[in-house]
Amino acid sequence: MVLKQIKILQENLLLWYEKNGRKNLPWRNLESENCDERLKDISRAYGVYISEIMLQQTQVKSVLQKFYFPFLQKFPTLQSLADCDEDELLKAWQGLGYYSRARNLKQAALECVSKFNSKLPRQVRDLKSLSGIGAYTAGAIACFGYDEKVSFVDGNISRVLSRLFALKNPSMNELEIKAKKLLNLNDAFNHNQALLDLGALVCLPKSAKCGICPMYDFCKGKYEPQLYGKKKKIIYENLNLKLFLLEFKHKFGVQKSQDKLYKGMYNFPFFKEEEIVFENAKFLGEFKHSYTKYKLNIKIYHQILKDEDRNYEFKSLEELESTALSALSLKALKSVKL
Ligand code: ADE
Repeated sequence: MVLKQIKILQENLLLWYEKNGRKNLPWRNLESENCDERLKDISRAYGVYISEIMLQQTQVKSVLQKFYFPFLQKFPTLQSLADCDEDELLKAWQGLGYYSRARNLKQAALECVSKFNSKLPRQVRDLKSLSGIGAYTAGAIACFGYDEKVSFVDGNISRVLSRLFALKNPSMNELEIKAKKLLNLNDAFNHNQALLDLGALVCLPKSAKCGICPMYDFCKGKYEPQLYGKKKKIIYENLNLKLFLLEFKHKFGVQKSQDKLYKGMYNFPFFKEEEIVFENAKFLGEFKHSYTKYKLNIKIYHQILKDEDRNYEFKSLEELESTALSALSLKALKSVKL
């Protein structure tokens, strides 16, 4: 694409965004006159950071309706994250899943305190040095939080670029070069938000709406969009587990996970189906649950203990409500009558 074409494409994209973009998303209006009342005191870079981490694995709608505002109310500054109690942080993250994201938030906040004067840095290189911040998130914080003129590539932008340039299996490096070439240096903020929106609203994975795309004239992939920007297929593994509600004096045994998977979260004890444990426990029911690459089938058992088992912390139902229980354990608790 020559420079003149790039200029037209940039203009078309911004015009489309002006009319059709999700300009009201609260993290796009921090520190502006359109800022949501609830976010008046939130710094732009910090509010963008939290939004980007939440949006990595969670849909916009869910982040918006359930998580963004309560989280920022509880942790309104980077310092409040650095100082927080990890259990409280994980509790606030409950429902968002992928809890390493929450643990990295605290870790990155501590790194900012020690290395960057308690602020999020504005340079991509410095941002990338922080725990849990990769190339995309670093670029997004620099651009959306500080108006840096940088480009970056996430899943949506990757699909848009793959189709625009008809690239079948592009490397991240190739895509980053294309994104940089297209970047509108006069309005990087809106250009990048527009690319995200184009991917989310028009250049859809299964049914691209090429007829309304502002890039139509320049798109090399428009006749066979399904050939480009395909996601790698996840191969799921089936796993059968048994989970135990161990009751002692109306309290239930939980364990804080030390494993990579649920690290820091509380779980009812669970074991692989073939392990021999608590043989006299009563079967209560079963449910299915997906977790990362696992399709889990979980059988729930109940056992009343005669003595307290020191391997577990015992909590009442009320105490469990304010505990950072994993989604798996929460589902188990909700699916049985105790
Ligand atoms: N996903 C990741 N970043 C986003 C943003 N700024 N707006 C909407 N969706 C996003």
